[in-house]
Amino acid sequence: MQSTPSLDQFIPIPQTVTKAAYQAFQDGKSYFGVAHKTISDRLTEMFLPGRDKQIKPLSLQTLALLQKLRNQLIETDWQDAENKIYPVSLLFENPWEDFFRYYPAVWLDMPKIWERVRNKEYQQFDPELDREGYPRYYLQNFHYQTDGYLSDWSANLYDLQVEILFNGTADLMRRRILKPLKEGLSNFAPQPMRVLDVACGTGRTLKMIRATLPKASLFGVDLSPSYLRKANLLLSENPGELPQLAQANAEELPYLDNYFHGVSNVFLFHELPAEARQRVIEECFRVIQPGGVFVICDSIQRSDSPEEFQVMMDNFPTIFHEPYYKHYVTDNLVERLEEAGFQDIKTENHFVSKYWVARKPA
Ligand SMILES: C[S@@+](CC[C@H](N)C(=O)[O-])C[C@H]1O[C@@H](n2cnc3c(N)ncnc32)[C@H](O)[C@@H]1O
Repeated sequence: MQSTPSLDQFIPIPQTVTKAAYQAFQDGKSYFGVAHKTISDRLTEMFLPGRDKQIKPLSLQTLALLQKLRNQLIETDWQDAENKIYPVSLLFENPWEDFFRYYPAVWLDMPKIWERVRNKEYQQFDPELDREGYPRYYLQNFHYQTDGYLSDWSANLYDLQVEILFNGTADLMRRRILKPLKEGLSNFAPQPMRVLDVACGTGRTLKMIRATLPKASLFGVDLSPSYLRKANLLLSENPGELPQLAQANAEELPYLDNYFHGVSNVFLFHELPAEARQRVIEECFRVIQPGGVFVICDSIQRSDSPEEFQVMMDNFPTIFHEPYYKHYVTDNLVERLEEAGFQDIKTENHFVSKYWVARKPA
């Protein structure tokens, strides 16, 4: 099936105008995120007095550095689009329908979150939800989310909550995997590619990979049936072959050895205990073809982050229930990748995220 041309392919808008529009779009998302958090922090302080004392304030230097790195992230995103790694239209992609439909629910969910924080309840699920067959570490209210990852309610709110958390930069950080993924796959061209996104969640990364690699066969795996349902809805909007989604534990991927040319993984490792991190890496190694590429995106870590960010890394697991984050920020993923057999491992940082690009020996 022929794919629909993207906006930038047929509208002759000058690049400077498009870039200014993109920056304005990002600024709008950022102002919105800041406004939302200012109000929600005030409400939280009213309903959970003393909570702010558990959180260390960020210095002016930290805020200035965050602003600088955010601007760099926007610039890199723009450059990658201009260099045709992916279409410019991807920069303006935003789940507007979800925003109007579910944003009120983000506020309605807050009293339930305060209740969980107050009662220190981190494993609270609707009794109707099926909790059989999941690893114990997974059955948690990560981010104090209602129902953890197990309900449609959670799946509908997740993307909005992440966007607000990162002041509208979550997709920009996800997009940083696209260049190394595309470059890593270039060794195999022109043969048809198979690419797997591990812990695909609601499918945002797969949607970006589809726009970047229109002809590749895409696969996504996640433990949450609700998030996969949501991903299916999002990915059905796109022309082209639908990604094949499967519910499975990333520690036991339901695929043949040496099957994929590339594997990606976004924002998973900080939510896994150390042993599970190693098993997921080993599984990704098993399913990647010799010469294939593995790209990971996750939070910044202590060792390669400026002094100013250490406070943020202390605050994050307190503000959001993230039981494995403290270990994650000190974990050496390069060693783990090497132990699994990966080579040519490179790392980079963008804004508050970190990337590992590794190759399975040919
Ligand atoms: C923080 S979300 C990230 C989702 C998505 N990659 C994104 O960019 O938004 C973590 C995801 O990992 C999934 N997950 C957690 N542990 C998993 C495991 N052991 N196997 C498969 N998926 C897992 C969760 O269901 C959730 O969708």
